[in-house]
Amino acid sequence: MEDDFIKKLNEAEKRDIIKIKNLLGKGACSEVLHAKYDKKDVAIKLFKRKNKEAMLLYKNELDAFKLLSQNNYAQFIVCLYDTLSTQRNLRLIMELGKMTLRRKISIMYKKFDIFEATIIIEQIIKAVRFMHDRKIAHRDLKPENMLFFQNNNIKICDFGFAKPANNINRPLKTICGTPPYMAPELFRLRKNEPYNGLLIDVWAMGVLFFEILHNRQPFQSTTLIGLKRSISMNKYYFRPLPQIHKTLINQCLTKSIYKRPYCNELIIPVKKLS
Ligand SMILES: Nc1ncnc2c1ncn2[C@@H]1O[C@H](COP(=O)(O)OP(=O)(O)O)[C@@H](O)[C@H]1O
Ligand SMILES: [Mg+2]
Repeated sequence: MEDDFIKKLNEAEKRDIIKIKNLLGKGACSEVLHAKYDKKDVAIKLFKRKNKEAMLLYKNELDAFKLLSQNNYAQFIVCLYDTLSTQRNLRLIMELGKMTLRRKISIMYKKFDIFEATIIIEQIIKAVRFMHDRKIAHRDLKPENMLFFQNNNIKICDFGFAKPANNINRPLKTICGTPPYMAPELFRLRKNEPYNGLLIDVWAMGVLFFEILHNRQPFQSTTLIGLKRSISMNKYYFRPLPQIHKTLINQCLTKSIYKRPYCNELIIPVKKLS
């Protein structure tokens, strides 16, 4: 199997199939490149084998792609075209997004349109529902991990922290995510205490929706301790908005995990606006 991949890559390079164009993003464990592969524009996410953490993220991401690539997934999840591995690196070859939601928020906010924002929110709810219906928790939902494609279609990417969330024998315990998007229960967990990954995603969606509608995050601080305090106080201030949007954000940012709804219980504002 491994040899096959190496052969494939060597052939690809020999036939000049991969042509790196530029760097799209760089994280602690991987880099994402814009490239031409087999004459197609693609994004290549590259993980170095010698980095143990990178290997774990690669495995998680590939497992999640396998579990999610079914039915009408291409509407919600970035497509994985291929994998290529060499002695040094592992690569995921994916469809190329136009821009991240992070960039879109800053562009959109210059000429804010509640309908445009609402359509984005609706798409995100549907995409997360697709994942959660298959009991996969993403665990790092944020604007950098959402990409725009043709016709403003938004899809989720970066499944490095994604895990099946219905596994009774192996409940989720590892704390992950990006601090401003992390749910309050994550800061209170004792060692090895399990948590509900699907509800972690719902909280992050609340932060995300707030950000789409305000171009700022609901909980802010210059220090991590201050941020934790702000998240656990759970106080945030809305700009003038339709009540339905405020209700949706309040639903997601419910502090109690016993009262926070699952993704399929969230209200979708677009239906109420039109
Ligand atoms: N398929 C893609 N198309 C376009 N840009 C991408 C794609 N995948 C990732 N990126 C860019 O690279 C960045 C990092 O990729 P990501 O998968 O989120 O890795 P990391 O684990 O480093 O966060 C993203 O925030 C985005 O800007
Ligand atoms: Mg990412």
